[in-house]
Amino acid sequence: MSIVCFPFKEEDVSVVVRNVECAASHPRIAAVLCVGYSQGETWHAIENAKPRIEKASGKVVILLLQKRIGVALRGGKGDGMNTALSYFLEHTQYPRLHFYDADIVSFSEKWISKAEIQADLDYDVIRHHFPRSSTDAMITWFVTKLGFAMLWPNTVLPSIEQPLGGELLVTRRAAEVLLADPRVCSQSDWGIDTLYTFVIAQTGLRMAEVYIPEGKVHALYGGLRDLRTMLVECFSAIQSLKNEVVGSDAGGYCIEFAKAVPELVQQKVGYDIEKSLKLLRSHWTPRQQELLHQHFDSALVKGLLNARDWPCWGFADEEAWTGAYLKFLDHFEKGDDDWEELLFKVWVARVLNHTLRHVIRGYDVALGSLRDFVWETRQRFGMELKATAAALDPIVIAGH
Ligand code: DGY
Repeated sequence: MSIVCFPFKEEDVSVVVRNVECAASHPRIAAVLCVGYSQGETWHAIENAKPRIEKASGKVVILLLQKRIGVALRGGKGDGMNTALSYFLEHTQYPRLHFYDADIVSFSEKWISKAEIQADLDYDVIRHHFPRSSTDAMITWFVTKLGFAMLWPNTVLPSIEQPLGGELLVTRRAAEVLLADPRVCSQSDWGIDTLYTFVIAQTGLRMAEVYIPEGKVHALYGGLRDLRTMLVECFSAIQSLKNEVVGSDAGGYCIEFAKAVPELVQQKVGYDIEKSLKLLRSHWTPRQQELLHQHFDSALVKGLLNARDWPCWGFADEEAWTGAYLKFLDHFEKGDDDWEELLFKVWVARVLNHTLRHVIRGYDVALGSLRDFVWETRQRFGMELKATAAALDPIVIAGH
């Protein structure tokens, strides 16, 4: 029987406790592992509920403080997940480990069952995907999926629906592969999901994505500033991998079809637009302007500098973002506040452009624009790779 892990910080206590209860009562689950960032209110609530849940379910509830595994980066979600992986590897009675975000209001036994049934077909990793608002997942689309499409266009990576999802099942084999990888162990921050996804693809583990039609109802953020740290850490994770090679023959990948998106998800606005419009005007420094002039395309520079005086976003279209992304890949320095702020501002402009050009035309148009962007980027960079290979080795390519 499997073990479920909920990494947690400070969450809505009643939601977390209900989720622990739900996981413990599942017939395929033998234990629930709660990995805490700190011993705060949520920790104590789980501790108090533990005897009752254990008695009612006959299962074990384990509370563990996350270890400092990756010492070079900020200690965050990565340390939490890796702490769970290492616990799982030490406790060999459980064949599979599930991860779920602790704050999912719509969590049910179905999330566990769907992953378990798919894992019975000998997949190493099962990920959950679900419908998301057209203004949510803005790091997923513009940083992770786009970065995968530019850097590894001919691999499974850009096809993965939710590469930053914290809801997944790993078998013992997958956990061994992940924890043996020093890049995974050192990724203690928000970059962990990128690293798990990347290493799973690079090592050719067999992966499936199962669909949860109700979607993931969870605590949402306010303005885009709430996502700044996550943006920087997810981009930096991709940047750290940019010279890696991934084979195009993945170990095996399948995805369950999506269904009609619930009205509630379609209508949800994922962030506070008015608050976010102001972000382009603040926190400017003379050095940011210098860096802009030094490295970026003149149309982007002009647009971003105009946005200091009056909110504008038309300049941050798909092409401008792709061009800027390549520059950031080459020059971005994590920890340098001016670089981080520039990445953040260009991304905010891109999100506003998406919102005010595509989202206002309806959910399907908005999602279509995101999918087209990734697909066309994949084609463009795939062709560039092919041309480079042909230039390097014209005889081999011609012979194909
Ligand atoms: C993403 O982009 O997927 C992050 O979860 C923020 O929504």
